Parts: sequence; C-alpha cells; structure tokens
Amino acid sequence: MTKILVTGALGQIGSELAEKLAQIYGSENVLITDIREPEQNHLDIPYQKLDVNDEQAIKDIVINNQITEVYHLAAMLSATAEKYPIQGWNLNTNSLLTFLELAKDKKLSKIFWPSSIAVFGRGAAADMTPQEEVTNPLSMYGVAKVAGEGFCEIYHQKYGVDVRSIRYPGLISWKTLPGGGTTDYAVDIYYKALEDKKYESFIGEGTALPMMYMDDAIRATIELMQAPKEDLTIHTAYNLQGITFTPEEIAAEIKKHISDFEISYAPDYRQAIADSWPNSIDDTQAQKDWNWKPEFDLDSMTVEMLKHLKSKLKINV
Ligand SMILES: NC(=O)c1ccc[n+]([C@@H]2O[C@H](COP(=O)([O-])OP(=O)(O)OC[C@H]3O[C@@H](n4cnc5c(N)ncnc54)[C@H](O)[C@@H]3O)[C@@H](O)[C@H]2O)c1
Repeated sequence: MTKILVTGALGQIGSELAEKLAQIYGSENVLITDIREPEQNHLDIPYQKLDVNDEQAIKDIVINNQITEVYHLAAMLSATAEKYPIQGWNLNTNSLLTFLELAKDKKLSKIFWPSSIAVFGRGAAADMTPQEEVTNPLSMYGVAKVAGEGFCEIYHQKYGVDVRSIRYPGLISWKTLPGGGTTDYAVDIYYKALEDKKYESFIGEGTALPMMYMDDAIRATIELMQAPKEDLTIHTAYNLQGITFTPEEIAAEIKKHISDFEISYAPDYRQAIADSWPNSIDDTQAQKDWNWKPEFDLDSMTVEMLKHLKSKLKINV
C-alpha cells in the first residue's frame, strides 16, 4: 500500500504534482504539507502543516501516517537563497538528510528529491552539458544541490536507500506562481504580455537557459518514480532537457500571438546566476534508463501558457 507525503506541496511544482499523485494513488493516500496554510478550496487532498526544519515533526508525520513514499519539494530557490544563504543551505540540506535517515531505518521505501541544473557552474560544458560533468556551482543554492546529490548517492550505495532525483531545468507553469528562482522571468513574461503587452526582463538578451513546461516535468517525475529500480543507473540526479531559449526567442514566440508585445532588458543580480548555468543539457541517460522524452517545445508551450493564463486572468486579447 503506497502512502505518499509531499513537502512544499503548495509551491509551483508541488501544487501540480500532488494533484497528479492524488489521481494515480487516490486522495486518501496522499498527504500534502507545507509551512504555509493552503488557500480555501485548494485541492481536495488531506493537508497538514509541516516545517521541514523541524526534524522531530518530520519523523512524527511519517510514522503517525504510515508514510511509504516522500516527494520532498520544500526548499529555498536560487534567487532567494542568494539573499539568505545560511537559511537556504540549512533548509535545502538538513531536511533531506532527515528523510534519508528515515529510509535508512526502513521507515520509508522510496524518496523523490529534486536537484537542479544549478549544480553546474565553473568548468562545465555550457552546451549539451553531460550527465557526468564537473559540478562547481557559483550559487549557494547550487552548492546545496551538489551536497544533496552526494547524500543521495551515499545513502543509496551504503544503505540501499531508494532515492531518485532529477536535475530540473527552469520550470514554466500557469497554475501556481514560481517561488523565487532565476528562471522565473520565463513565467513572468507571459503574465506581463497579457496584462501590459510589455515586459522588462531581469535576464539579459542572448542568455540561453534550459527550461521545461510543467506538464513534462510532472510526467518525468512520475515516470522516474515508477521506473523499475534495477533499470536506474544514476543515483545522484538525472540530467533532463526540455526546451532551450533566450529571452528574445520567447518574446518572438509571444509576438506571434500578441503582435504589439515588446520586451526590454534590465539584468539584475540573477544574471550572474544565469550566466553560470548551462544553455542546454544532455539527457541521454534518462532516455536510456526510463525512456524520457519531452512533449512540449517553445511553440506548443506558448500556446498552452497563453490559453490558460487568458482564462485565469480573464483577459481577452
Ligand atoms: N521551479 C523550478 O523551476 C525548479 C527548478 C529546479 C529545481 N527545483 C526544485 O524543486 C523543488 C520545488 O520547487 P518549487 O519550484 O515548487 O518551489 P516553490 O518555492 O514554488 O515551493 C516551495 C514550497 O516550499 C515551502 N516551504 C518553504 N520553506 C519550508 C519549510 N521550512 N517547511 C516546509 N515547507 C516550506 C514553500 O511555502 C513553498 O510552498 C525545490 O527543491 C527546487 O529547488 C525547482
């Protein structure tokens, strides 16, 4: 019997992943948690407040609810972690160790924990960054993700813990706003295109970054978690490629739908983080091990984003 705990479940990924997990396993078998209270009429899935900095609270919730699998999404994202590096480090590393210890003690059978393209930095190939590449990140967030990947590998090799991970690229979605990442511009731009027909990008012209539409990211997560254990060869985190584009390329795509849309550029502190990240990712190993294949490109993602946001924002363009 699978009983799932989702941490950080009210965030950009969690809000959509929890819904999908509830469809697959039944709402009664999913427990969503977050440090925040949900808004009224959120998903019809049981909720409990959980601060993942509280080690005892994590242990209690896992034991009391006979949890078997965890999707540990609670984190501080890249841009925010640059402002609060110590809190970011503590949140992004300690809670993962608590879950890994529970799995080592056989209190959990499977863990999903997301890593990020932020593990890459100095010395890594920028184009088609390989799976096995140097990880010298230039952000505190990236350093914590590299540490997390190391924890996953060690707990797998030494204690047989079944922990699975993906290096998500920047994720683009319309349901829930992103929570303070460097790639958030690629979500903001759709809102501003519809609301103001112009957007000032905090990421500069010519900066190509790996991105992915949320539907693909959720499907990747579920497919990885459902893959036979013996097929998996990566126990740090899998590289995953979706779509690569620059701010001017996404703007040009939006212009096809909103002809008077205009983009301008005012790069800020997030530019340095973006400059240290890859342009595109080689995900051959994910393709081989669990048949990964993205469905959305820039064109189809833009159609979906504008369609859903128009109806969410009640805008007629
Ligand atoms: N969104 C992306 O583009 C992206 C890309 C790469 C990796 N990731 C990773 O995916 C995971 C989820 O990201 P997201 O985009 O959904 O983030 P998000 O910021 O949208 O959501 C994180 C959630 O965690 C909650 N949270 C914060 N501190 C907490 C605490 N102490 N205890 C419990 N909950 C707490 C927040 O309230 C929020 O709802 C993170 O590990 C992130 O690093 C995300």
